[in-house]
Amino acid sequence: MNKTSVGMEDMQPSSSEPVLQIQNLHVWYELKRFGFSHAGYVRAVDDVSFDLKQGEAMACVGESGCGKSSLMKAILGLNRPIKGDVIFDGTRLTETKGEALRQYRAKIGYVQQDPFGALPPFMNTQRILEEPLIINGMKDKEERLKRIRSVLTEVKLTPVEEILSKFPHMLSGGQQQRVVIARAMVMEPKLLVADEPVSMLDASVRVEILRLLRTMQEKRNLAVIYITHDLSTVRYFSEYIFVMYAGEIIEFAKMEDLLNDPSHPYTLALLEASSDPDANNALVMREIPQGEPPSLVNPPKGCRFHPRCSQIIKGVCDEKRPPVITLSPDHRVSCWLFDQDRES
Ligand SMILES: Nc1ncnc2c1ncn2[C@@H]1O[C@H](COP(=O)(O)OP(=O)(O)O)[C@@H](O)[C@H]1O
Ligand code: SF4
Ligand SMILES: [Mg+2]
Repeated sequence: MNKTSVGMEDMQPSSSEPVLQIQNLHVWYELKRFGFSHAGYVRAVDDVSFDLKQGEAMACVGESGCGKSSLMKAILGLNRPIKGDVIFDGTRLTETKGEALRQYRAKIGYVQQDPFGALPPFMNTQRILEEPLIINGMKDKEERLKRIRSVLTEVKLTPVEEILSKFPHMLSGGQQQRVVIARAMVMEPKLLVADEPVSMLDASVRVEILRLLRTMQEKRNLAVIYITHDLSTVRYFSEYIFVMYAGEIIEFAKMEDLLNDPSHPYTLALLEASSDPDANNALVMREIPQGEPPSLVNPPKGCRFHPRCSQIIKGVCDEKRPPVITLSPDHRVSCWLFDQDRES
C-alpha cells in the first residue's frame, strides 16, 4: 500500500534524537446536528507525521483553514487527537494529564497571531511575565524579576523599568508581540510554537519580529515550529518546510529546495501568491491560488487539491489518493505527476 502522509520522520540523519515527534496525527472535530446527533467530522488534521530536533526550525505553510492551528493546538495539548500521538521531550501526550500535562505545557513557548488578544488587558507587563513563573513554583520575587528583566532585554523592550509598569493598551502592536514572545520565553522552553506571529502586525515591524525570533532560536538552541500562510516569510526562518493542504502535508523539503525547486502544483501556486514581508515591498501582494479550499467534512475524492489543480490527470487525480514520492533524501511530494509507475 502506498504511504500517504508526507512526513520527515525517516528523512533526517540519525545523529540526535528528535525533541518532538508527530505520529500519524488526526485532529477531527465532531459535528452535531441540533447539538445532539452525530453529523460527521471536520478533518482538520488528517494523518500528519514529522520529527523535529533540538535547535531546528521548521515552517508549516498553508492557506487559512488548512489545519495549521489545529495541529499546533494538538502539540500544545489543547486539542486531543482522535488518532495518533505527539511525543515531546520523552512525554507521550495521549498518556499525559493533570500535573504532568501542566509540566509538559510549561516546556513549550507559544506565540499567537493576535498579540493584543493574547495579553490580559488588566495586567501590566510585570504581572503578565510573573504569572507563569509563579504558577510554575518560582517563589523568590527577586529571582522572578531578574529572569523577567533579562528576557525583556533579550526581546529588546527597553528601558525595562518603564516597560514593566505598562499595560497592553499602552504598547504598540510590535511591542505587544515582544511581550508575548517574552512570556513564551520566560519559562525557558525547549520548543517554541509561533502561529502566524507577524500576520497582524504592520509591515514595517514584521521583519524585525521574525529576525528577533530567529536570533532567540539560535541563541537558545530552540526547536521552533513557525506557522504561516505566507511563504515569503519562511526565508527568515526555517531549515525545513512542509506545506499543508486540507489537513494533509502535501510537500516537505529543506527551505532552499522548496523555494528554488517547488514540485507540488499547490506549492507552486502558493509561491506565485506570496508577498514579501520587507516593508519596501509591502504592496507586492497577489491573489492566493484560484478557487476555494475544499470542505474538510467531505474532502474531495483522490487528491484533495484536484478541483483547483491546473495539471489534473483526469481519471487518476480525481479517483485515487496520490502516493508519496521521494524526489531526493530531503524532499517528498504527494502528487501523481511524479509517480513514474502510474497507470492512467
Ligand atoms: N473547535 C472547532 N470545532 C469545529 N471546527 C473547527 C474548530 N477549530 C477549527 N475548526 C475547523 O477546522 C479547520 C482547520 O482550522 P484551523 O486549524 O484553524 O486552520 P488554520 O489555522 O490553517 O487557518 C477549519 O475548517 C476550521 O473551521
Ligand atoms: S495529484 Fe493531480 S490533482 Fe493533485 S496536485 Fe498532483 S496533478 Fe494536481
Ligand atoms: Mg490558524
